[in-house]
Amino acid sequence: MSRPEESEVARFKRLAAERAVELLQPGMVVGLGSGSTSALMVRRLAALRAEGRLTDVVGVPTSLETEALARSLGVPLTTLEEHPRLDLTLDGADEVDPRLRLIKGGGGALLREKIVAQASRRVVIVVDAGKLSPRLGTRWAVPVEVLPFGWRSQALFLEELGARVTRREGRDGAPFRTDQGNFILDGAFGPMDAPAELASRLEARAGLVEHGLFIHLATELIVAGPEGVEHRRRPD
Ligand code: A5P
Repeated sequence: MSRPEESEVARFKRLAAERAVELLQPGMVVGLGSGSTSALMVRRLAALRAEGRLTDVVGVPTSLETEALARSLGVPLTTLEEHPRLDLTLDGADEVDPRLRLIKGGGGALLREKIVAQASRRVVIVVDAGKLSPRLGTRWAVPVEVLPFGWRSQALFLEELGARVTRREGRDGAPFRTDQGNFILDGAFGPMDAPAELASRLEARAGLVEHGLFIHLATELIVAGPEGVEHRRRPD
């Protein structure tokens, strides 16, 4: 049922989030993503707990923001040190292509999101249909987390690879800092033919901490749009 003040995109996010939380089973250790869709999932999990369901599900948060939200709602948390292998991660994305390759990091949490995703048996990406894209880079720049040391050199490197680069700023106009204290460079590459190759080139660069291209990490997608809610598996 829709709520009167809710935008269409917000409704799709909520419907996708509700479907995703249905995947949780008692006793699971689950990666909790970051961003507004992930926040809806954390809230949904907390609501189910309040009804006495899924009370033994524990989460590994992918950002300080998600950690704070989960704690405020009483969702039990653990760490990758205690649980280095996770059953499932539920997370959002900024852009999703037909092979379930992703751009993530709109909220700046890409590093922890990727660490948690690669520790998970299943990575379920949860989006509204507006995130679907024929080619990565069509709708979103690639966020790149870099050490503050030498960041201008990293910006030049990204420009040489063909990107238009901006250093992300916070609301106060100061450089945005990740949970690790690093900067984010947003590299607008435009629609990409070979995102996996770009990912490899970025991974070979010292000082570049992580990038927001998630290649072969998502195993499933839950997408909500005008046609309803769909649950897809990655086509291998
Ligand atoms: C956080 O760094 C991102 O990867 C988010 O998962 C992504 O930006 C999706 O955010 P929304 O769910 O708010 O659209």
